[in-house]
Amino acid sequence: MCGIVGYVGGETSTRAVDVVLEGLSRLEYRGYDSAGVAVGPGMITQTKKAGKLQNLLDDLEANPLPASRNSIGHTRWATHGGPTDENAHPHLSFDGAVTVVHNGIIENFFDLARQLEEQGITRVTQTDTEVVAHHLALRLKETGDLTEALRETVGELEGSFTIVALAGSEPDRVVAARRNSPLVVGLGDGENFVGSDVAAFVGQTKRAIEMGQDEIVTITATTVEIQTFEGETVEREEFTVDWNADAAVKGGFDTFMEKEIHDQPTAVRDTLLGRMSETGSLMLDELRIEESILKRIDKIIVVACGTAAYAGHVAKYAIEHWCRIPVEVELAHEFRYRDPVVSEKTLVVAITQSGETMDTLMAVRHARDQGAKVLAIVNAHGSTIARESDAVLYTHAGPEVAVASTKAFVAQITATYLLGLYLAQLRGNKYSDEVLTYLEELMAMPDKIADVIAREDEVKELARSMKDVTSVLFLGRHVGYPVALEGALKLKELAYIHAEGFAAGELKHGPIALVEEGQPVFFIVPTPRRPLLHAKVLSNVQEVKARGARVLCIAEEGDDAVAEFADHVLRIPETPTLLHPLVSVVPLQIFACALAGEKGLDVDKPRNLAKSVTVE
Ligand code: M6R
Repeated sequence: MCGIVGYVGGETSTRAVDVVLEGLSRLEYRGYDSAGVAVGPGMITQTKKAGKLQNLLDDLEANPLPASRNSIGHTRWATHGGPTDENAHPHLSFDGAVTVVHNGIIENFFDLARQLEEQGITRVTQTDTEVVAHHLALRLKETGDLTEALRETVGELEGSFTIVALAGSEPDRVVAARRNSPLVVGLGDGENFVGSDVAAFVGQTKRAIEMGQDEIVTITATTVEIQTFEGETVEREEFTVDWNADAAVKGGFDTFMEKEIHDQPTAVRDTLLGRMSETGSLMLDELRIEESILKRIDKIIVVACGTAAYAGHVAKYAIEHWCRIPVEVELAHEFRYRDPVVSEKTLVVAITQSGETMDTLMAVRHARDQGAKVLAIVNAHGSTIARESDAVLYTHAGPEVAVASTKAFVAQITATYLLGLYLAQLRGNKYSDEVLTYLEELMAMPDKIADVIAREDEVKELARSMKDVTSVLFLGRHVGYPVALEGALKLKELAYIHAEGFAAGELKHGPIALVEEGQPVFFIVPTPRRPLLHAKVLSNVQEVKARGARVLCIAEEGDDAVAEFADHVLRIPETPTLLHPLVSVVPLQIFACALAGEKGLDVDKPRNLAKSVTVE
């Protein structure tokens, strides 16, 4: 996920760069590990800097770009290549004729790079984007027209992308293409804009056009022409943006947390993207630990904190089942200060959104000191834990701004599934067709998550009815157990309500004493297609119901047995047991967010908490 802006105006002035920079400042929530801007009269000039947008602004103040009529800019969330000046966008072609910014992932960039090498064009960055600039320049030489050149170039690309380009020879236009990544056009008076979302230009105009899938747009100061990748002209309806600038940054939601809950289908889809080879087997290119070492490991220890640790709990169930390797899950701060049994045959998996959590970093260092290999599952590229680990498996959730983790959690779980299936494939625990079946089930999950989100009004209504509760219990078995823990954590941190998550089987060993008349108890009910597990949870439901609890169940469509005992059932689609957390956690996130909102609390910045905990 990155932020993109493009602009064309009628006069040569500094406005082009100013407008693009203002757009980037509103898009910084989409990525903030580097930023860059380019202008294109004659010879293209561009400036790009690693780090926050402010670094770019400081540089431009000292060394301003020339006046121009067009400009493009980018704020980056790294996927391929660390967050450095070189890897920042825009990317200039080998001959300096064109420059591009990109949001998404070019899956076939190795093939495209190889084709370029055969023509003597070598890459100077580690990004997947750079090859697009070179291919575009080659096509521009042949066609002499930037739009046509981009149309031909996108025909060669696989993956998801929004690409915005300008050519030094065409100072009056900017061209952009879209596949599986967002792109909107802003319509001004004698000037036009493109952006990743309306936040890019909402300070300049409220008139916009949403681009369709596989379409290219050419903007000049006075015209906007849209065509398909096949070259057919497209007419698109204009709409009026009714968000103010602040709402636009949050995609029209009141809070980042709501936006990030809605980002979850994309976070899971992007984390899965590009992991399957042509033959259908799973590839994890970034896993730079020798296969022979991975084949040899006899134990996995997951280290993480908070929500990331609950993702690790889910991983335990999946990886043990698929790979038959024992998996321990340990809070990073506990792991560090005891004497864990770790050897060269141990794989330590550190899970962290920020990659900067000090407790997890210390656990990583400790594990490496003991001779273990460390694989980090990280969302923030170039972060300390990503750098200090032996290998990194990146989640592609994009920046998570709200303190309460949501989309990072589902992306982390997805990444651990990929790791589990990869190890099962590598070590021969699963045949490749079995791995493929699981992958296909995983590919179906984004739509299932979207289905749960579409029912959010019912959850919000429930939250409204419970705004005065003082204690809530969450119970689950198997992978429903970590979901119960996560549901309780969300409610504690957002709504400041006492909440506890338990393994449902543990109830009778003590916690049932908490249950009295009216006590709200959430149950994460497993699929009825696992009858034994399902029956056990239903027994637990009845145990608390008999003691007067208000029973709230998260259960699959068609699970009629639950309805008999529950006061309220929130439905989720039918899902294979091990993948259940990806859907069952969503109502709990929406519930906590809505309840906190109902109490008038700051959902994005709960009291006493920080997004990234960089102290021990
Ligand atoms: O950045 P990390 O994933 O390492 O953060 C770990 C925890 O601090 C984090 O998951 C925390 O529990 C969440 N804010 C909870 O929503």
